[in-house]
Amino acid sequence: MTITERYAEFAARETRGVSPTYERLSAAVAGDNELAARLDTLPPDKQQPNLLFGVVRFLGGPVHDPAAFRAWTLAHWPAIEPELRARATQTNEPGRCAVLLPALAALPQPLALLEVGAAAGLCLYPDRYAYRYGDHSLGTGAPVLECAATGLVPPATRPEVVWRAGLDLNPLDVTDPADVAWLDALIWPEHQHRRARLRAAAAIAAADPPLLVRGDLVDDLPALAARAPAGATLVVLHTSVLYQVPQPRREAFAERVTALPGHWLANEAPDVLPRRGLPAPPDDALYNVLSLDGKPLAWTRSHGQAMTWFG
Ligand SMILES: C[S@@+](CC[C@H](N)C(=O)[O-])C[C@H]1O[C@@H](n2cnc3c(N)ncnc32)[C@H](O)[C@@H]1O
Repeated sequence: MTITERYAEFAARETRGVSPTYERLSAAVAGDNELAARLDTLPPDKQQPNLLFGVVRFLGGPVHDPAAFRAWTLAHWPAIEPELRARATQTNEPGRCAVLLPALAALPQPLALLEVGAAAGLCLYPDRYAYRYGDHSLGTGAPVLECAATGLVPPATRPEVVWRAGLDLNPLDVTDPADVAWLDALIWPEHQHRRARLRAAAAIAAADPPLLVRGDLVDDLPALAARAPAGATLVVLHTSVLYQVPQPRREAFAERVTALPGHWLANEAPDVLPRRGLPAPPDDALYNVLSLDGKPLAWTRSHGQAMTWFG
């Protein structure tokens, strides 16, 4: 895909109706030969709209006016380029726990959670967050994760988690203000509710930090899984991670995770982790597929804001 195609697709499919600011910016970049030429000097995984916009926000640049964004980005390219090369999109969205919860609550308790691609580990606290599925509430306090759930009876209880561990190529530390600032910069401009959710979830994680290990989800999974306590159900989970992993490594990961005792809970895009026999998605928005031990369970929206359970 060319830079122009990539940014035009991002505008049309990912941001439309979700972030007017990023829709305007990505459409502007799609039509800008000079910005495209700068981005073209980078490896493809460093050309992503989310990464560019996150880095510009992280460095204090303007994103609300495409002309101001363009001028600032071109003027500050010497500072932007090394950040693009050094960083990756590590959006850590605790809201995704709302779509994981029904599957986790139905497993034999207690649970030992091992998240691969955990970023700062904010999806390792499904037992600590509160939830609202329509008029059904679960738990108290903040954050409250709202999810429009179709086709399922929401769980009556939260899971019991006795061990939480994360594996990431670049683990982020919620007690480090610079890491939290990067997570904040990755949240889209209009999404104040997600910013508040990040702060509330980060406070929960900081009070009882998970075991976060720097490592690769294929090579280092068995050693970390071996540290899970006996007497708990091991669940290896991941959400919005495998799109960053080359296809042969996704296959190696699938082989490795299925060889472990316990369960495998995946929440990934259907083209990234193909599943057979999927019903048509509810509409033409982008959806992930939630699957347990390879069996597809539901279509889920990317920030956990909605799920449609399969019949
Ligand atoms: C988009 S973030 C998602 C974070 C979290 N799962 C969530 O849903 O909020 C993807 C994470 O996967 C990590 N990652 C990518 N490739 C990886 C690999 N081969 N092994 C371990 N972690 C990886 C990245 O560093 C990043 O933190």
